[in-house]
Amino acid sequence: MHCYLNGEFLPTAEARVPVLDRGFLFGDGVYEVIPVYGRRPFRLDAHLRRLRRSLDALRMDPPHDDAHWRSLITELVARQPFDDQGIYVQVTRGVAKRDHAFPKDVAPTVFMMGNPLVTPTAPQLAQGVAAITAADNRWLRCDVKSTALLANVLLRQLAVDQGAAETLLLRDGWLTEGSASNVFIVAGGEIVTPPNGPLLLPGVTAEVVEDAARLEGLPLVRRPVSEAALRAAEAVWITSASREVLAVTTLDARPVGNGRPGPIFERIHRRFQSLKPAPGRP
Ligand code: PDD
Repeated sequence: MHCYLNGEFLPTAEARVPVLDRGFLFGDGVYEVIPVYGRRPFRLDAHLRRLRRSLDALRMDPPHDDAHWRSLITELVARQPFDDQGIYVQVTRGVAKRDHAFPKDVAPTVFMMGNPLVTPTAPQLAQGVAAITAADNRWLRCDVKSTALLANVLLRQLAVDQGAAETLLLRDGWLTEGSASNVFIVAGGEIVTPPNGPLLLPGVTAEVVEDAARLEGLPLVRRPVSEAALRAAEAVWITSASREVLAVTTLDARPVGNGRPGPIFERIHRRFQSLKPAPGRP
């Protein structure tokens, strides 16, 4: 498998980053995960926009313009031996003597790799998955897609320890998102998801679900979701580049609604699939 590192395509096993890279020492970097179906990136513009926004939050200049990113990603996709891919893009502040303050005149480190895209299995789609809840103990800039993911790592592991697929995060009694996903609920015939802001990542897949709801004529609103509303929801879904849209049918070991993904999920999921790039679809 090939990756891209600072201007060069090379076998991933041969790629090396110096130990003084600020991504390694401080988590001083940002990333994106872009789903690719049949070798065609899905919603690439939105991912590149969010990458620019994350870099801006780190007060870093974008290392490439969008046209250059596009051509690098196209080349990386072409070099992988599989059609559906998750393209990982990471930019760090670069290599410098360890000091918290920004170094001067240092080139960023740009790294990209393509992995097989692992989407939900048929049983997961049919039955839904289990999730747990935990207190959201992350920083107050969760809108930045930072490589500093220690809190997310620890929170996800809580789910794994309990045989669950995701940890849904509650801050002061309000739902924010999952450890690596956005969250939607269905309540009173409406699809509801918390508004974007500093406490959660503005998900690209969440936008696809919004488009799917619009096309299905289903009401979708962005408003705060309380812990009580989450626990009383008829349905709960998580979204991410790899999870697409997936129903949570067990929350903290209790069934969500009637414990089935439900007809609204099925409509949204079907419409979501129709929005993905496919052979013959422009
Ligand atoms: N994570 N919130 C968090 C904290 C995330 O890490 C992710 C995705 C999302 C969903 O964003 P999107 O729909 O754009 O993938 C929300 C990626 C997939 C990851 O870290 O691997």
